[in-house]
Amino acid sequence: MTPIFDTHAHYDDEAFDTDREELLASLPAQGIGRVVDVGASLSSSRQAKKLAEQYGYLYWAVGVHPNETAELTEDDLEWMGRQCRHEKCVAVGEIGLDYHWDEPERDIQKKWFAAQLELARREKKPVIIHSRDAAKDTADILTAQRAWEIGGVIHCYSYTKEMAGVFLDMGFFIGIGGVLTFQNAKKLKETAAYVPLERIVLETDCPYLAPVPNRGKRNCSLYLPYVVDALAQIKGVSQEEVRRVTWENAVRLYRMDPGID
Ligand code: NI
Repeated sequence: MTPIFDTHAHYDDEAFDTDREELLASLPAQGIGRVVDVGASLSSSRQAKKLAEQYGYLYWAVGVHPNETAELTEDDLEWMGRQCRHEKCVAVGEIGLDYHWDEPERDIQKKWFAAQLELARREKKPVIIHSRDAAKDTADILTAQRAWEIGGVIHCYSYTKEMAGVFLDMGFFIGIGGVLTFQNAKKLKETAAYVPLERIVLETDCPYLAPVPNRGKRNCSLYLPYVVDALAQIKGVSQEEVRRVTWENAVRLYRMDPGID
């Protein structure tokens, strides 16, 4: 059975403080082949890097989440640029717009979204996009930045299938996780049916968004088989096919060697 690639996790989060080492050490033997720990702030990016230096199968991304951009400076951006050259840094993220938590003000979020896209372009890294209640502005900024030349993933995808078409046309992957198993996730199920399997990557966004039957609990990569199962049913293919194709997609997204570690 092909192992699972978790393209988006936050094992640096304090929710894992009690058992992080034990849990991370146990993942490869339980079918989790690779994990990308995604920075959401400068400090979590630093933690993600440390984890990547500790675990062979774990990689990381450097980035500042839209809701954390208020304090960002040009010096910080320069530091991030240097981090992109770290041997296990595979992307710039997560970056984007979040109008659900409408803070800091939209102009500040937009400014740092654009700045981090430019950084990714300079450093030749794909981007991990966080976009919530901000579909139009996200698409507009990605278009203005010619994001198809940068590449990346729309993580924890939450918009319509029509909107997914816009991001697919820009060459982006669509990140899908635990929400796919929620009974009320009609829109995401429609999107998953619409997006070609070759353009979908699996993610936990842990500790958040655990799939059914663990909904509401702390999420971790070990619950991804529930997402694989849900996606296999929607696509009418085997779970092994979902594992294999999404592994290949993740490797393409993050421009890594294709081998199983
Ligand atoms: Ni995230």
